[in-house]
Amino acid sequence: MIKEYPVDELKPGMVVVDTGLSWAERPYLYAQPGVLSELQIASLRHEGYASAFIDTDKGPLAGTRPAPPTVSLEAGRAADLETEKRLLAHALRVDRPTALGAGDGAEAGGEAGAEGEAAPRAGKVPLRVALKAAQSLYEDSIAYVRAFLKDARLGRQIAYEKSEALVEGIIDSVMQNEDALLSLRRVRDADEYTYTHCLHVTVLATVFGRFLGLPRGRLNTLAKAALFHDLGKARIPAAILHKAGRLSEREFAQVRSHPALGVETIRALGRTVPEEVLRGIAEHHERYDGSGYPDGLRGEAVAPFAAVIGVVDVYDALTSERVYRKGLLAHEALKVIYGMRERDFSPLLIDRFIKCLGIYPVGSLVRLSNECIAVASGSNSGRPLEPLVRVIIGPKLKPIQPHSIDLALGEGDGEPLRVVEVLDHRRYGIDPAQYMV
Ligand SMILES: [Fe+2]
Repeated sequence: MIKEYPVDELKPGMVVVDTGLSWAERPYLYAQPGVLSELQIASLRHEGYASAFIDTDKGPLAGTRPAPPTVSLEAGRAADLETEKRLLAHALRVDRPTALGAGDGAEAGGEAGAEGEAAPRAGKVPLRVALKAAQSLYEDSIAYVRAFLKDARLGRQIAYEKSEALVEGIIDSVMQNEDALLSLRRVRDADEYTYTHCLHVTVLATVFGRFLGLPRGRLNTLAKAALFHDLGKARIPAAILHKAGRLSEREFAQVRSHPALGVETIRALGRTVPEEVLRGIAEHHERYDGSGYPDGLRGEAVAPFAAVIGVVDVYDALTSERVYRKGLLAHEALKVIYGMRERDFSPLLIDRFIKCLGIYPVGSLVRLSNECIAVASGSNSGRPLEPLVRVIIGPKLKPIQPHSIDLALGEGDGEPLRVVEVLDHRRYGIDPAQYMV
């Protein structure tokens, strides 16, 4: 588990992880991965760092937690990872043609239950339908983000008015089925982070805003603020934004100016833009305890939309694949964010965000209590522990006909099925996106 520790509580041997949160944006974090020595801890304190992210499964903290009450693919039940991978690959090869609608499903069936789709919840468009429109909307939105960042970088006016149709399209998609655009987050190239991040933050903010009960007009305002939240970064030299080492005071001051530069770029259009859009951009790095920038606003003084964008901005940074680093799994990122309560964000906001996304967001690979392996394929608002799942592998890695189950409906013989463990799909060469519809 990854946990944020105050510098005063660090001990030699602890293993620091690179969470992917930008040092430039969170200067009080030590982001260089590695095993801490006494000297390093002293120098962290000396340099003014306040905290570090520690992997509690390694170093002196390892083994201090009670063993998880679950059977794990990693935990020695089967021979080794390679054998498991081969077995999984076999199981999935049998499933895959049927999953794509072209196979015979000869080995399917067994204790896995009836084939078919779990019924979509009332008013929700099935994911496979919503995905079609979402895919082209996603591409159009990425092209738009790329264009406005380029315009801003070259000192040209950005095409603000074009954001209207895209933002409305994103809201429509989220209203139909929020999982469509959310699931597309997972399949992008790592090197496109600069563009995809702006869009992902917009999608996440819209999903969260809807969960919070915002009416459509205000969702539009929130989504626009999210879309342009990092617009000002286009006016900061890439050499500073992507600098690997520690920034000088001057460089750091430049990074800290990106919210104000974004507002300035929009004001330069000379058009009427809602104040909430401007504050969402200006204050998205302000933090609940006053430790943010540029003004060190505290608590309720931070604009609500800026706080929402701040949370989803961190979540996207933590979970995104980067060229140099794998993203955290969704539940790991939510744990990190949970640890930011009171300091970075209000506890209420964090609690709601976790409820909104669910503990097992769409695309999570999970093991169920009947030992089947499944992909979380849909969220159940207000029931974060009970997602819709697509079961893809049976007990003892037996190939099965893929089928969907809504865990919130308490299906299954005897005890209702539940999720007992999240698995890292990357370790087993599984692409969950293939199994979500
Ligand atoms: Fe930012």
